[in-house]
Amino acid sequence: MYYADEVIEEVRSRNDIVDVIGSYINLKHKGNSHTACCPFHHEKTPSFHVSREKQMYHCFGCGVGGNVFTFLMEHENFTFPEALEALAERAGYDLPKQEMSAQAKKQADARSKIKDMNKLSAAYFHYLLKTEHGEKALRYLKNRGLSDETITKFGLGYSDVYSDDLFKYLKSKGYKDDELKDAGLVKFDEKYGFSDCFKNRVMFPIIDMNNRVIGFGGRVMGDYKPKYLNTQDTLVFDKSRNLYGLNLAKKSRRKGIIFCEGYMDVISMHQAGFDNAVASLGTALTVGQVNLVKRFTDRAYLAYDSDDAGTKAALRALEIMREFELPARVISLKPYKDPDELIQAEGPEGMEKRIDEAKSGIMFEIEILAHNYNQEDPQERTEFQQEAAKRLSLITDPMERKNYVDSVAKQYDIDKDSLKEAVTHYGITGAAKVDASVFQEKKRKSPEEEKEQQMLKSERLLISWMINEPSLFDKLQSEISPDDFFEPVYHDVVQALFEQYQRDGKLVPASIINHYQSKEEHEKVSAIMQQDFDMEIPDGEKSKVITDLVKTIKLRSIEHQMKITKGDLVKQNELITAKIHAGKLVIKI
Ligand code: CTP
Ligand code: MN
Repeated sequence: MYYADEVIEEVRSRNDIVDVIGSYINLKHKGNSHTACCPFHHEKTPSFHVSREKQMYHCFGCGVGGNVFTFLMEHENFTFPEALEALAERAGYDLPKQEMSAQAKKQADARSKIKDMNKLSAAYFHYLLKTEHGEKALRYLKNRGLSDETITKFGLGYSDVYSDDLFKYLKSKGYKDDELKDAGLVKFDEKYGFSDCFKNRVMFPIIDMNNRVIGFGGRVMGDYKPKYLNTQDTLVFDKSRNLYGLNLAKKSRRKGIIFCEGYMDVISMHQAGFDNAVASLGTALTVGQVNLVKRFTDRAYLAYDSDDAGTKAALRALEIMREFELPARVISLKPYKDPDELIQAEGPEGMEKRIDEAKSGIMFEIEILAHNYNQEDPQERTEFQQEAAKRLSLITDPMERKNYVDSVAKQYDIDKDSLKEAVTHYGITGAAKVDASVFQEKKRKSPEEEKEQQMLKSERLLISWMINEPSLFDKLQSEISPDDFFEPVYHDVVQALFEQYQRDGKLVPASIINHYQSKEEHEKVSAIMQQDFDMEIPDGEKSKVITDLVKTIKLRSIEHQMKITKGDLVKQNELITAKIHAGKLVIKI
């Protein structure tokens, strides 16, 4: 369902954010500010702020924030349309039926076309697998132990050795070149023209929760590289908000959802009866995926590969799951590499046993910690025990905490009373939070990355200034344009701000968030609007700060344009003039 911007804004403005959030959590209010302990992470002192003036919320502790829609999306796990509908109902506002702007309609049509092309392609690949062309692929899958039933259930297929058979097939169905390209099914090359993205691979269609094919993973048969190719991001394929196998796993009667790393793991698991297995789509686990899963289950199992990379990925996943309060257990697959291998070797019974024996996330983390320290060295042993105590102090339930303290003390031969005391100490001081990164190797940023981060920060800061001092617009209009902002989300925000200001002569930051529909975008946009920088700097300094920001952003934008218009002398000359102008820029406020 798509709604016009005006409708969305109408619903937003009819739902005061303080009232709405106040109906979910206990807001304390002092003067203009409304605060509470953040509902999205554990904390003892309130750092969650709701602003009636801005109609936005923000947590200084964990960084979440947004408008009233974002809050419902986060708190209720609603999608954007669901949040919109709930708030419309709350305000007694009748949403127009099936309202769709021309733009939205175009997008909806494009999406549905891509899904149709994907469906045809999946059917085509599946058909090929059963023909002479797919003989080798079928043998490959059979050799890996997959039954006909499993192959059908997952719609597995084969992409032929020819470079454009799919292209021709879909063209014959009436699709245009560009449509096929936008679906991520064919690519274009100056020299060779159009060709299929997937060639001579076993094909795994990726199916979303509404049972639509949104993309593909394609595996080589043998030890060639890259082992997998995945569909690029398209209008319908967002890797960070989907999980392989979730369309089936959501219907499972088994307890919890089991996260694996690979497509083959998921398929093997389902074939062995563990139909609650899912996998991310060739990327690390994301917040979006955890939120998705939370709609169906209250418990996660991690069955990640038993190598170093898998362990690291598991630690990271545990961190996200803890943050979003999805209790997690870790399944040990050793000595096997992954769930698929374990099932091949020990069958479903072996896996069932491993699931029963799965360790809680915290015990797993402490076990990894134990390996990182030399237990024979008194100094290192002490450090290990301190880190372990910090972890344990994160457990909020007192009974659970006591049980864990007991078993850690026993397993690692630590004096129970000292451990208990240390855990209490860290619990009170909140020391564990600061140290949550002990597992991660310290990664140094390259100078380029450093510079890039600095640029992003400048862009973000300037936007914050613009929001907090709208009078700046008059002075900035002739000096800087939305195109000077590189980060796509920031670019769009600036464009929207300029439009608002030109149209209404004022800014309504909360309404700009309406343009975004994913939680990640909501957070990114609201983070800029909530920048908590010191507006108290003396007026004389302000001009300098803003001048510097504008200069930095403008000069980098000019440099970039010079790079991409090399050879165009007229353009280069213009840019040189612009560069000199920017260098001398002074903005007075
Ligand atoms: N992956 C990827 N691109 C690669 C390698 C891996 O996208 N070049 C993703 C795929 O989603 C894959 C997952 O990472 O399923 C896990 O990788 P791996 O364990 O290597 O693959 P398996 O699925 O276990 O495949 P197989 O058992 O066939 O080796
Ligand atoms: Mn594997």
